[in-house]
Amino acid sequence: MTHHEIGVGHLELIDELLLDDQAIAEQVLKIKSERNAVILVHNYQRPEVQAIADFTGDSLGLSREAARTEADVIVFCGVHFMAETAYMLSPHKVVLLPEMRASCPMADMADAVDVIRAREEHPRAAVVSYVNTSAAVKAVSDYCCTSANAPQICQAVDSDEILFVPDRNLGAFVASQLDKKVISWNGFCPTHERITVENIMRALEQHPGAEVIAHPECRPEVLAVAHHVRSTSGMLNAAVTSPAREFIVATESGMIYPLSQAAPEKIFHTLPDEPICPNMKLTTLSKVLWALQTLEPRVTVPEDIRVRGLQAVERMLALG
Ligand code: 13P
Ligand code: SF4
Repeated sequence: MTHHEIGVGHLELIDELLLDDQAIAEQVLKIKSERNAVILVHNYQRPEVQAIADFTGDSLGLSREAARTEADVIVFCGVHFMAETAYMLSPHKVVLLPEMRASCPMADMADAVDVIRAREEHPRAAVVSYVNTSAAVKAVSDYCCTSANAPQICQAVDSDEILFVPDRNLGAFVASQLDKKVISWNGFCPTHERITVENIMRALEQHPGAEVIAHPECRPEVLAVAHHVRSTSGMLNAAVTSPAREFIVATESGMIYPLSQAAPEKIFHTLPDEPICPNMKLTTLSKVLWALQTLEPRVTVPEDIRVRGLQAVERMLALG
């Protein structure tokens, strides 16, 4: 719909909604300081949620922030495994996930019992789990990794055989970077799986000269045509440091907002068949306000699982 197609009534309604956002944001910021809370926001979140963040970042950056914050309350605007990881690192803090249904379908593709069975089938392999897993899966893994450090962690692991859980695309990317045997789980991200080489080629035809920045959750054939393969925060660095002025962004389309903020003089294009993660869009400003007012819904992890899972996360953080 263009502006010409929107009636005056609609424009007034849109103005009202924008004003509402502003009013809610002001209330959020007020109650946030009363609660001594910190708001951690993933790069794919709605722009108005990113705008109230104390820290916006990728999974690695957000975990580091959760580990070092001195706040009493962490409001995690992202998906469930991210809030779980924050709780594992900071169990004495209240960790709020404003929308409890915000899960990650890829994380749900691996369960701990199956991982234990796979460990038995591959006794020589070290188990490296992507942070997009449940706490229970982390508890039966040797190392955790994120999209920002997967090849480095797998290289540093003291084994030349890796069982990589749960993302087959990130696993294939790791295998392409290292001289190690990588046995990949068969999980995938439904949002990134929708991105095809045809999408990229169509976008390149429309924007010749643009560079392609892709997330390593994309299929191998997509990564093969990308100029940069990066975590979401790595994409921000690539966009700022590259001499290119135009980029095709092969990841969840929420990334266009932080990219445009980081490099306002550059142009970013999402793909023709816009990839959107519905779970990342469930968190709204009103839900953040509600969470701060009620200190619910909280994410916790049973202590025995937390302690075992934390080892895998801390081994990752210790490797830098
Ligand atoms: P990043 O750690 O790169 O932000 O990725 C998280 C994620 O869920 C991507 O789909
Ligand atoms: Fe999970 Fe994919 Fe959504 Fe990231 S984009 S949270 S991997 S479903």
